[in-house]
This record gives sequence, C-alpha cells and structure tokens, in this order.
Amino acid sequence: MLNSADAPSAHAKLNAWIDEIAALTKPAAIHWCDGSKEEFDRMCAEMVAAGTLIKLNEDKRPGSYLARSSPSDVARVEDRTYICSEREEDAGPTNNWMAPAEMRKTLSGLYDGCMQGRTMYVVPFSMGPLGSPIAHIGVQLTDSAYAAANMRIMTRMGSKVLDVLGADGAFVPCVHSVGAPLAAGEKDSVWPCNDEKYIVHYPETREIWSFGSGYGGNALLGKKCFALRIASAMARDEGWLAEHMLIVGLESPEGEKTYVAAAFPSACGKTNLAMLIPPAGFDGWKVWTVGDDIAWIKPGADGKLYAINPEYGYFGVAPGTSDKSNPSAMKALSKDCIYTNVALTDDKDVWWEDMSAAPAHAIDWKGNDWAPDSDTPAAHPNARFTAPASQCPSIDPNWEDPKGVPISAFIFGGRLSKTFPLAYQAFDWNHGVYMAATMGSEATAAAVGQAAIRRDPFAMLPFCGYNMGDYWQHWVDFGAKLSNPPAIFRVNWFRKDQNGKFMWPGFGQNMRVLKWIVDRVNGNGNAVESPIGLMPTHADITWNGLDYDKDTFEHLMEVDRAGAMADAEDQSELFGRFGDKLPAEMENQRQAQIKRLNDAPEIWRHKS
Ligand code: GTP
Ligand code: SPV
Ligand code: MN
Repeated sequence: MLNSADAPSAHAKLNAWIDEIAALTKPAAIHWCDGSKEEFDRMCAEMVAAGTLIKLNEDKRPGSYLARSSPSDVARVEDRTYICSEREEDAGPTNNWMAPAEMRKTLSGLYDGCMQGRTMYVVPFSMGPLGSPIAHIGVQLTDSAYAAANMRIMTRMGSKVLDVLGADGAFVPCVHSVGAPLAAGEKDSVWPCNDEKYIVHYPETREIWSFGSGYGGNALLGKKCFALRIASAMARDEGWLAEHMLIVGLESPEGEKTYVAAAFPSACGKTNLAMLIPPAGFDGWKVWTVGDDIAWIKPGADGKLYAINPEYGYFGVAPGTSDKSNPSAMKALSKDCIYTNVALTDDKDVWWEDMSAAPAHAIDWKGNDWAPDSDTPAAHPNARFTAPASQCPSIDPNWEDPKGVPISAFIFGGRLSKTFPLAYQAFDWNHGVYMAATMGSEATAAAVGQAAIRRDPFAMLPFCGYNMGDYWQHWVDFGAKLSNPPAIFRVNWFRKDQNGKFMWPGFGQNMRVLKWIVDRVNGNGNAVESPIGLMPTHADITWNGLDYDKDTFEHLMEVDRAGAMADAEDQSELFGRFGDKLPAEMENQRQAQIKRLNDAPEIWRHKS
C-alpha cells in the first residue's frame, strides 16, 4: 500500500480509507500535508515549474501567485452538483438527485485510476477554530496541488488537525480529483480538469466526492460542499444553522458592539458588506469583519444565537474590488495570496476591471495580449482571490473565539433592479422566514449558466444539502424555540432608475442602513408599517455626510402594488413545487401578504 506504515496518523479508520481511495484512484505517490509554510512554498514552486502558477512581482505582491484556469472551469456547476440521499424527496425539488447506489456505480468507474501519474495529497482540515466544540474536521484527498495550496489559506490545515483527530475522532471524508490521469511520460496541462464533472454529496453518510473540476467551490471541499451542503444536513439533525452568510460587528462611538449576519446570493455583496468602512459622517463608528461567506450558528445557554466563521480565508470576487469600493480587501491582498483568472500586468502585478486605471497592456485571464480597447474583459467576471483572513485590517478581535459572537439581526438581500425597496424589517420571525424563502436575485458569474433572474431562498438555493421545504420548516421551528429571536431584515442595494443607474450609492454608504438596523434591534429606531414590512422613513436614516435627495429616497422605498402583487402571486410556483413539504406557515404568510397588498394604495409611499 502506498499509504505505508509511516503514515503520520494513528487513526485506523482514516488510514484504511486512504488505502481504499488510493487503491481505487491509483496515484503515483501520496503526500500528507503538514500545513507548514515550507510545504506551501514548495508546492507553489512545483506549480510554477509546471506552468500552473505564475509567481507575481515579489516587491509588489510578496508570496503571491496567479493561476489561469481552463476556460471551461471558471465557476460552480450547479447542474453537475448532486445531493444523493436515499429518497429523492429528501433532496427536494431544488437539488439534482440520483440514488446513492447508482451514483456510486457511476463514480467508481470515473475514479478508477483517475489519479494515475499524479500525487494524492492528504489534506486534513478543521472548519472552525482548532479543537473548538463547534468546529468540525474533514480530510480531503486531492490530486490537485492547486486545491491543496488553496486549502491551506481557506482552512486551518495540516498536522495539528491530525493531533485533534487523534486515533478515533470523527471526520468528513472528501475525495477530489481533477479527473485527468497522466500516462507515463505524458506532459501535464497547466490546468488539468475533465469535461465531465460531478460534485456529489451523500448527506446521510456525510461524504463528498468531487470529480473533474479545479475551481474553488467545486474543489475546495471545506467550503460550499462541507460547510454548507453537508453541514446544513448536520445542522438540521442537531438543531443549529449552517448558512451562506457574512458576519459583521458594528461598534458605536460609545463602544457598544452589535453583530449581524447577512445572506446575499453569490457575487451579491457579502465580502463588501463584511469589510465595510463607515462613510464620512460616521465618526467613531467601527465595523469589524468576522466572516464573509459562511456562518455556523448555534443557540447559547443564554437564549441568544452565537455564530462562528468556519473558514480561515477569503475566496473573494476580484472584479470591482478597489481601494475605493473595498480598501480592507485590497489591504488583505497585499501578500501571500493566490489569484485565479485575473489579468497579469507587464510588471507582474495583477489587475482586474474597476481595480484602478486600466494598464496600457496586460495579459488577460486566457493568457492573451490585452489592451483597454480589447472587446473582452481582462479578468474573468468570476476571477477570484484567495487571501488569509488574518490579513484583513478590519478582522474582529473575537473572530476566532470558539464560542462565537452573539447575533442580533439577520439580513437577507438579493440583486434586484426592480420593485424591491432599499430596506425593511419583518413583522416577526415567521414573516422574516417567508421574506428570506421568497427572495429573488439576478444572475451573476459565480455559477455557470444561471437564469437571468431566479428565486434564491436564503441565498442557499445552490447550497442546501436537503429538501428546501424541510429547511424552511427547520427555520420556523428554530425560531419558535428562541425566547428572543434576532430581528429579520430585507435589503436591496441594486434597485435601478429608468436610466438603468443604481439608485443607491451602496458600499460604504450601506452603513446608513446598518445603523438603522442597529437602532431597531437596540430598541431606539423608528419604523412605519408598509404592506410588505416595517420601513425606515427618511428621518429614521442618519444622513450626516451624504447629500441624498429625499424624493429619491422615498422613490427608492416605495412599494408598487402591482409589482409586489405579481411577485406574491408568482411565489405560488415556487411553493407548489414542494407539495406537502411546504410548511403551512409559508403559504399563510403569502396569503397575509396578498391581503395587505389588496388593501394598499397603487403606489405605497410614506408621507412624512
Ligand atoms: P460570493 O463570494 O460569490 O459568495 O460573493 P459575495 O456575496 O461575497 O459578493 P461580493 O461582495 O464579492 O460582491 C460581488 C459584486 O457585487 C462586486 O462586483 C461588487 O462590486 C458588487 N457590490 C457589492 N456591494 C455592492 C453595493 O453596495 N452596491 C453595488 N451596486 N454593487 C455592490
Ligand atoms: C459563491 O459562489 O458563493 C462563492 C464562491 O462564494 S465558491 O466558493 O466557488 O462557491
Ligand atoms: Mn459564496
């Protein structure tokens, strides 16, 4: 056996599983990742030699690299992502399903010999602070050095995880192959992958099998596969929440800190909101970043909810990130990062759209010459950076606190250019669950082949590891057990005017909405009742430092009855797909919404 007697772990089950996967996939060698910097540097140097990575300018971007993926492997592939529960109804109508036995048969053919000529890396990782009672351990076996190196940035990875695992600790087995075996003497491609992709989850046995892709969400299995799809199923069984949420702390000039968690669909502003810098007029306010993508949330003994960020780094959208839009992210990118599918400048620095003035010449993400008058973008719209979380200047001092941070509010927001107001609050928990369940959003580049607009309940459509109807019921039941549940809000930074321009400046200015939310949850903010929720009036928002027209604000906040009614009616299509898995409460909420809209004026506007 390749995984010889000198395996660094005494965990018999782990060692036996590695033997079994090695026998199936037939790698040329096995490397146990210790997680050290030396190991990372060595792996990167090997990838530079192979052409997979390009070393960036050591003065401008120390310790950093660029990878260019195959043009066919740039994003998540939702139509190739499966939830393989024993019963189809347990995956539900929003997931692809195949019976586990059938899937295992398909996969055993694909994985047979798929690592030939490659090294199989053993990557032990912890989601959450090492040894914390809320953390969970996974072990990824991968034939991708790119995945292994990125896992060192995104998770707590290496020997120290084996120490925690001991001889019999529980772990989630994660098998990953790019699906590109190498014949003896065959030259490797710089981004090996396979046209046939399978991102497979067995929620009942808590296993992940990913084949054919090297892209983040498909290949860094701690992230969406484990921390959301598998963890959401664990959370349902054990009474907690695993969510596609950022976590941020808002500190007032008086030093009072309010933590909120917010779910926006992929590429809809989580990283930006998590790293927000308060705008002019908010002197003394501080915003602290806990996490930018995933939250694990558990009830504490005091009846409050506590959240941790299970990740250790950011896998963020590069295009649009700049010193103006997100200076904290730009500082986090100053060193020791891996960039994927951004442009390379002539001085071996990186560039992407809206980062800064365009360089006169660059090499685009496909490796071709690029100039500002080229008719294709320099960076792929879903180009990403992998950056250590600790490098973010706004990182919260409590971000690694194993007990988590107390959550006072949940915020849900989509990318909606029409109809939806800037911000409003749910009347109560169940109304909030309904608001989140019916959330819509417009397409982004984070997944291949998205519809122009779709419902993305809780921003979890691609990430819920079980029936979404059961997930809504879990949220309803979860709230019912809380004596003082967090308030729930909807926001929309993306409403556009008749000329197609964003009506709201967004980014740092979103602080004004967050301040209203903080006021609401701390009992000193005002709101008025609209047909769809509790809304701030112009006077309830802090406008210091921003000259924002009152009439535009009221327009931004108005509820167009016909539009809102059409949306409420359209929700029946979504709800209808769930049959008896639809919680009765969801349809009750929808009927109440329709009734409120029937009683509303054609255009509801708060008259102050
Ligand atoms: P994932 O990592 O895919 O889960 O995405 P995310 O939700 O973290 O998205 P991110 O913060 O990276 O934002 C993606 C895009 O939204 C970028 O193009 C941003 O420029 C844009 N964006 C973020 N915040 C705002 C905002 O307040 N207003 C506007 N107009 N655009 C925004
Ligand atoms: C997303 O698509 O929501 C991401 C990037 O955060 S990935 O890890 O690829 O899913
Ligand atoms: Mn995400």
